[in-house]
Amino acid sequence: QSVPVIAVDGPSGVGKGTLCQALANHFKWHLLDSGAIYRVLALSALKQNIALDDEQKLANLALNLPLTFDTSGSEVKALLNNIDVSKDIRTEQTGGAASKVAAITSVRTALLQRQRDFRQAPGLIADGRDMGSVVFKDAPVKIFLDASAESRAERRMKQLQDKQNHVKFAEILQEITARDERDRNRTVAPLKPADDALIIDTTSLSIQDVFNQSIKYINKEL
Ligand code: C5P
Repeated sequence: QSVPVIAVDGPSGVGKGTLCQALANHFKWHLLDSGAIYRVLALSALKQNIALDDEQKLANLALNLPLTFDTSGSEVKALLNNIDVSKDIRTEQTGGAASKVAAITSVRTALLQRQRDFRQAPGLIADGRDMGSVVFKDAPVKIFLDASAESRAERRMKQLQDKQNHVKFAEILQEITARDERDRNRTVAPLKPADDALIIDTTSLSIQDVFNQSIKYINKEL
């Protein structure tokens, strides 16, 4: 029997990261933050002055991306060329750039195997946009989190403020809406729930509520 995967998808700022971290701790399973891969790719492209619509160069970069994850500490670090870029990839700017490179088919294909390699015993919690619909289509459990754009912008703003970034609500809301639209409307792996996913609207739920609902569903499905 293949290694189980819990696929968690949804738009930005919906609380996927928090839920996935909690699930990974709970089950003591591996964690894949697939968005971090697209973010590191975008950051690397920006550093090398590669245009965000240069399909060939970006696909090449994706195939050979010198990205590793350091999981030795309490927070996972993303390393590009062995340099910690965890902070640099968290800005909304990098998120926006990530959603541009993520819309390119050859880029997504180039990153498929890298993501699937995370599927290791005893199991994997996979966080992204297309975990249940493309990358781990055979995942035994699929959860899709959704929430209003306003509540997601609020959460994102709080997250960024915690990290002492100066941000304006209207700007965050606009960036989140633009990024979502790009993610939902792209032709390749658009953001949408898999047919067999449980959809949870987290707009008025606490982190604990979302966790409890998820655990209940997972225990039923696994
Ligand atoms: O989840 P996160 O906000 O870090 O993802 C950044 C961007 O990467 C998303 O807006 C999306 O365009 C892209 N992405 C994707 N597929 C995934 C994960 C992220 O297209 N599985």
